[in-house]
Amino acid sequence: MNKSISSISLSLILLISTGGLSAQGLKDIFQSDFHLGVALNGAQVAGREEGALPVIAKHFSSISSENGLKWALVHPQKDAYNFEFGDEYVRLGKQMNAFVVGHTLIWHQQTPKWVFVDEENQFLNSANLILRIENHIQAVVGRYKGKIQGWDVVNEVFEDDGSYRQSPWYLITGTDYIKTAFRKAHEIDPDAELYYNDYNVWKVEKLEAILKMATQLRSEGLRIDGIGMQGHYRIETPSLEQIENAILKIHEAGFKVMFTELDIDVLPRPDNAMGADLTLNYGANPAWNPYPEGLPDLEEERLVARYVTLFELFRKHQNKISRVTFWGLHDGKSWLNNWPVRGRKNYPLLIDRQMNLKKGFEEAFQNEL
Ligand code: GLA
Repeated sequence: MNKSISSISLSLILLISTGGLSAQGLKDIFQSDFHLGVALNGAQVAGREEGALPVIAKHFSSISSENGLKWALVHPQKDAYNFEFGDEYVRLGKQMNAFVVGHTLIWHQQTPKWVFVDEENQFLNSANLILRIENHIQAVVGRYKGKIQGWDVVNEVFEDDGSYRQSPWYLITGTDYIKTAFRKAHEIDPDAELYYNDYNVWKVEKLEAILKMATQLRSEGLRIDGIGMQGHYRIETPSLEQIENAILKIHEAGFKVMFTELDIDVLPRPDNAMGADLTLNYGANPAWNPYPEGLPDLEEERLVARYVTLFELFRKHQNKISRVTFWGLHDGKSWLNNWPVRGRKNYPLLIDRQMNLKKGFEEAFQNEL
């Protein structure tokens, strides 16, 4: 406990921040609708980012692990796990009495090369890769059994056109890796909720493919509770109609709906891409960094207005939506400062770099408090 604050001081911070003068947080506005969540990094969960813990406790009733439980971080070498982040993370979740989400067990990014090859550097056969998946899930889900309440079991299996992504997982095992992951996660922690998670879920072909796969898994007796729509959006796209269509379709298919990585990019994009394809990667360039000194008021108003309409839509469908999670605590820590163009200043969240709530959002929902 030398590097982090003690349990007692953490409890005190949480107590003071939730009982203080302006106790009303985002989570209270939507208390009877859905969990309000936030993705956290290592410094935040260990109490090393000044001022962060009270803001987390005030506004959020659920937490997600931004990077710390991804394969490359939690299981960097064949026989070496690193549970430092995870242990702090679940401890914070317990202190906050939050709904704790584990992100993510299987993904094509942030997975080390060794996972797919043997000692001679040859690709594994399907049976041996399946064994590695089972061991990984046994170790990670097992360690946090009863402490993590929901897992993003597999992330981003499909391309936007609905075809299966040609990842090493798929090329080696077909779709068996997906079934194995859901089966094993349920076997290790039967009480945990299990999710499929992806970006651009509002795209009709992708949505159909996801629901077909999830329905198939369920018909084979596997547990799958919900579909996570990441929600990496822009100011004008996707439309509310497109998002609403996805909410309705997921619900009709019998799955919980979650917005798992919400943020709204306010900057221009070189190729106008949508979603979160991490292979897009452009070098720093001042021409693509229009607001280095701060977001102009008019642009911030547009951002907040977009958030208001989104949350009105979420509330309209609160009986279908179990959680809305922001991807990052505040603008200064958002991945969108570095994607798809590196080294920019972005403003995609509702909490600014000084950790204040942007003006206009709370007010829009105020009369309902
Ligand atoms: C995807 C992943 C997240 C995160 C973001 C941005 O959406 O699911 O874990 O890595 O990309 O980096």
